[in-house]
Amino acid sequence: MIDDSDIEILTEYMPDFPAGSVWLVGAGPGHIGLISVMGLFALKQADVIVYDALVNRDFLKFARPDAEAIYAGKRGGKPSAKQQNIIDTIIKYAQQGKRVLRLKGGDPFVFGRGGEEVEALAQANIKFLAVPGITAGIGGLAFAHIPATTRETNQSITFLTGHDSKGIIPSAIDWDALAKGAQTIVMYMSLKNIRAICERLIAAGRNVDESVAFVRNATLADQQVWQTTLGKAADFVTEHAITPPAIVIMGANVNLRERVLKHALPIFKQTSSNDQT
Ligand SMILES: C[S@@+](CC[C@H](N)C(=O)[O-])C[C@H]1O[C@@H](n2cnc3c(N)ncnc32)[C@H](O)[C@@H]1O
Repeated sequence: MIDDSDIEILTEYMPDFPAGSVWLVGAGPGHIGLISVMGLFALKQADVIVYDALVNRDFLKFARPDAEAIYAGKRGGKPSAKQQNIIDTIIKYAQQGKRVLRLKGGDPFVFGRGGEEVEALAQANIKFLAVPGITAGIGGLAFAHIPATTRETNQSITFLTGHDSKGIIPSAIDWDALAKGAQTIVMYMSLKNIRAICERLIAAGRNVDESVAFVRNATLADQQVWQTTLGKAADFVTEHAITPPAIVIMGANVNLRERVLKHALPIFKQTSSNDQT
């Protein structure tokens, strides 16, 4: 177990979280155990915590009782906080001299608009620290028992988003090159455009029989994992009513899951109500 002497050792390595500054912390994909030690320290010190929709609310249990927690969730298609409002909020509290923790799902700089937030902070002359988190496309694979790379078949990995700022598949991605050159492909925010994406990859020569996995609510108690093939993936999403948040993984490495699944330990203490695969 973690005891006081461990905390003492860890504390020595922690940077300052000064009044009037902002820490952008990646909380990881959801499981409470996947936040970093630095993230946990920030939670214990912050005066104000501005957290996203995909952040596990249980993290707030670590906050000081007098800390202010502000929900800043943005979810596609639902009423949501505007990015500019979020930026204005964190700047406002930092300018009041508060220690502001901007708690974001996964990693703050992976499809999380963390770059825009630190630019705005820099322009407002506010000091910040970005603390990495485990992105869904890494944590989600591990807990689904899919290796991100394998020496034999998958020597590279590509992360992409399935839509651009207009909601369509990103035209700046070279889909032909991707279909030919990318081995493990991990797609975020891609369910809405899954048909267009799969058709585009197949048209560029990707094998219709290639394995595809979907991991929904990765690393959480209600995590769900499905496996199909590229040719069937779009219909599969409709048939199984797969909804966000989910990541889509494509590549030969997906097949390892079935070979090891029976031997994988559960990600939570087992009770009769939370049996997961
Ligand atoms: C706005 S992006 C944020 C990504 C985040 N910054 C990260 O590094 O994981 C939201 C998308 O991330 C993916 N995602 C985040 N958390 C997830 C989870 N627990 N399970 C599956 N996908 C997740 C989904 O594709 C979701 O639509």
